[in-house]
Amino acid sequence: MRKKVSIIGAGMTGSTTAHWLAERELADIVLVDIVEGMPQGKALDLQEAMPVIGKDVTVTGANDYEPTADSDIVVITAGLPRKPGMSRDDLLATNAEIVGKVAEETIKRSPNAIYIVLTNPLDVMTYLTWKKTGLPANKVMGQAGILDSARMRAFVAMELGVSVENINCYVLGGHGDSMVPLTRHSNVAGVPLNKILPPDRLEAIVERTRKGGGEIVSLLKTGSAFYAPAAGIAQMVEAILKDKHLIVPAAVYMQGEYGLNDIYFGAPAQLGASGVEKVIEYELNEEEMAALKKSAEGVAANIAKLNL
Ligand code: APR
Repeated sequence: MRKKVSIIGAGMTGSTTAHWLAERELADIVLVDIVEGMPQGKALDLQEAMPVIGKDVTVTGANDYEPTADSDIVVITAGLPRKPGMSRDDLLATNAEIVGKVAEETIKRSPNAIYIVLTNPLDVMTYLTWKKTGLPANKVMGQAGILDSARMRAFVAMELGVSVENINCYVLGGHGDSMVPLTRHSNVAGVPLNKILPPDRLEAIVERTRKGGGEIVSLLKTGSAFYAPAAGIAQMVEAILKDKHLIVPAAVYMQGEYGLNDIYFGAPAQLGASGVEKVIEYELNEEEMAALKKSAEGVAANIAKLNL
């Protein structure tokens, strides 16, 4: 039997995730949204593309949760995106209400699912999903680190004219402007970035990475990024469904790693069939640890606002 991935929120990121997943023929897909007809229309359109690309995948759209029953993975993208001038944290109250309800409705029907959250503010919404589903922490994670690291990789590739495949970047911390791009651990074909790029160029790339989401929001004017975030989710789904033991940066539950406890936070994590198999700890210097701590304080303060 094919695997099943339900995506709640069939807007820009949700439907683009469905597109990436269908193209990889990873699973049957269910798209759920509150807007009548929209998930059904997008699902049918995508279904009709399958003969062209030669993939056998069933795509279903719905305004209710029944078709999500027995999902292997639930992806949550429901909620509001940012408008120009807004920070991700400005979305907290509205999106908490939406994500809380989505988590309750889906877990009833798919008690064994693994959850991947995308709705912002990401680390806080992932924590909320973990609480509302009552799942073990390794079965709930958020997508942010792949995106932030991919942005940094893209900027390094543009700067150096080297293939993106040769560029490894690692961005840790909360998914906000205080995220922590690691310049000593990031590298081009094994050579650390801080040995290749002059300090001012490196600093410019770090700054552009931190503000990467905002750059897209100001260009789009309505809505936020969707291709790259959705590609990040697809990579996580693939790692889980294929039990790849793939290490990617993700928002994961911290249990002492990096000196942090009881928050969801961006760190390299190994993903496989059971969800998060392991959180990887880099050796960080004082400056990197201080930046990570600052980022964690911001996430913890927002989690506290939820009064869970
Ligand atoms: N149940 C299901 N779907 C919902 C609900 C709900 N309770 N509330 C809102 N939605 C749907 C909206 O109808 C919309 O189609 O969520 C979808 C969100 O899609 P977009 O507005 O296109 O936003 P998107 O760009 O996909 O971003 C979604 O992900 O990256 C984050 O910051 C972003 O929080 C935002 C989320």
